[in-house]
Amino acid sequence: MCGIVGYIGLNDTKEILLKGLEKLEYRGYDSAGIAVMNENGVHVFKEKGRIADLREIVDVDVLANTGIGHTRWATHGVPSRTNSHPHQSASGRFTLVHNGVIENYDLLKREYLADVTFVSETDTEVIVQMIEKFVYEGLDVLEAFRKTLGLLHGSYALALLDEQNSDTIFVAKNKSPLLVGLGSDFNVVASDAMAMLQVTNEYVELMDKEIVIVTKNDVTIQNLAGETVTRTSYIAELDASDIEKGTYPHYMLKEIDEQPAVMRKIIQAYQNEQGQLTIHNDIISAVNESDRIYIVAAGTSYHAGLVGKQFIENIANVPVEVHIASEFVYNMPLLTKKPLFIFISQSGETADSRAVLVKVKEMGYPTLTITNVPGSTLSREADFTLLLHAGPEIAVASSKAYTAQLAVLAILAEVTAKSQNINVNFDLIHELGIIASAMEALCDSKELFEHISREFLSVTRNAFFIGRGVDYYVCLEGALKLKEISYIQAEGFAGGELKHGTIALIEEGTPVIALATQESVNLSIRGNVKEVAARGANTCIISMKGLNMDEDSFVIPEVHELLTPLISVIPMQLIAYYAALHRDCDVDKPRNLAKSVTVE
Ligand code: F6R
Repeated sequence: MCGIVGYIGLNDTKEILLKGLEKLEYRGYDSAGIAVMNENGVHVFKEKGRIADLREIVDVDVLANTGIGHTRWATHGVPSRTNSHPHQSASGRFTLVHNGVIENYDLLKREYLADVTFVSETDTEVIVQMIEKFVYEGLDVLEAFRKTLGLLHGSYALALLDEQNSDTIFVAKNKSPLLVGLGSDFNVVASDAMAMLQVTNEYVELMDKEIVIVTKNDVTIQNLAGETVTRTSYIAELDASDIEKGTYPHYMLKEIDEQPAVMRKIIQAYQNEQGQLTIHNDIISAVNESDRIYIVAAGTSYHAGLVGKQFIENIANVPVEVHIASEFVYNMPLLTKKPLFIFISQSGETADSRAVLVKVKEMGYPTLTITNVPGSTLSREADFTLLLHAGPEIAVASSKAYTAQLAVLAILAEVTAKSQNINVNFDLIHELGIIASAMEALCDSKELFEHISREFLSVTRNAFFIGRGVDYYVCLEGALKLKEISYIQAEGFAGGELKHGTIALIEEGTPVIALATQESVNLSIRGNVKEVAARGANTCIISMKGLNMDEDSFVIPEVHELLTPLISVIPMQLIAYYAALHRDCDVDKPRNLAKSVTVE
């Protein structure tokens, strides 16, 4: 959450920072700000709201060669202009942007800064005031920066300007993501490579507790002890068109439509020359050596984990538990003797998941991350990584990453099964091909989902999604999609569980959307639909071909029964999309949310 950028060079600093922040807006959009530095000093522009609001107030006449910027997801202090970054020290000499959370900021404030008048309610302001205090006490800027960092508990990606040194940006990182981008006669700093793809695709990764001194022509990385660290750069393999909306009105719609292509890309990426699915032997050995897999994830990725459990247990016969990361870290279950931990995370940056990863690594257990972002924190820190190959997901509501997660989990299950000579009674490559075509057919039926959305969700305050077995897990995801982008209060429920309490909420007209893709529970979920219809619910059944009945609102194409979540989620995504559109909600940037949740 929060995104930071920095630029030092000869080009139009303000525009580069603003464009970079636009690309990082998915990380938070409560407020935004930039600070640019020239021979007349530092000029700060900040505003509550979006980057577009910030653009309106930036003085076009201020020219500068050095600058930093920030887009905020509020943690400490309400979204306001005052709490927006950049923050400045009391004298105005130092200016700072920060992504992360300083847990001991209050203590530091009391211990070191009792005589300083604070302007904002943020934890960030403490950092910049401490740097100034240590400089006043006689340290040089780098020493003061290092001393301050040594006192911070928590996460940070920081970029600091010193008014008395207009050709340097001081940078530091701990737990929050940060990259330095290299150019000729310029260098940049960014929370992710997408932000600065406009000027460079060559990046250097930073490790926790490193400090970087960035000038126009030089990048010096140091550890906290002040020793210089050498690290080679890499080329970010991102296509600029991947991060544009093109002709789509919203990223979410583009990303929903990309799902068939992502399926085909995954098949390609995980196929060997003999046309068989393959995963690195070390990963398969880790699965085979474990007596239980613990999947740890948050939100949509957690929902993917629930389906993944079905895949792994049914196909590979390995027991799996699925846990919400934020609960697991403080409330760990009794583990088996040989656990393998799988972290599922689109961004690879989710702080809750990372906290578990750090803990289980300390305990000496093997770890695998399944992520869309190569080089992300969870990828770097786990023993193994499997990539999703879904391309950048920009819309805050996850769509293509979810189906990519399911596909990769299915592949992991199948390759594991084959390694143990377990008979898999279907050809997964073939089935994923069928799924890609079925996804296309669903994406071509948008007007039907718009219609369903209008009919069932246009005037309601709440909605229920019900299913049994894997359909229930897809319902959890359908409900999450609907609530996060349309603000309709939605719940996913196991069909049979409704009558144990929640059915009390059903009133005349309450929308209940039921999924029926599993033969074994087809009749029982339809029975649950009848129960709510008898109490006035407005019911909509989405079934799979072969199990459909006359009363159904939509029939999805037939695919292998175990793999139905890969396509039954698409109606859910599209219904949520249109519900948000009908309510004039900001589909790609729903209120209070951010794409990358880097605080616990
Ligand atoms: C919902 C959504 C979130 C994320 C969750 C975990 O649409 O996107 O629930 O799934 O914040 O994020 P990752 O997968 O990046 O760890």
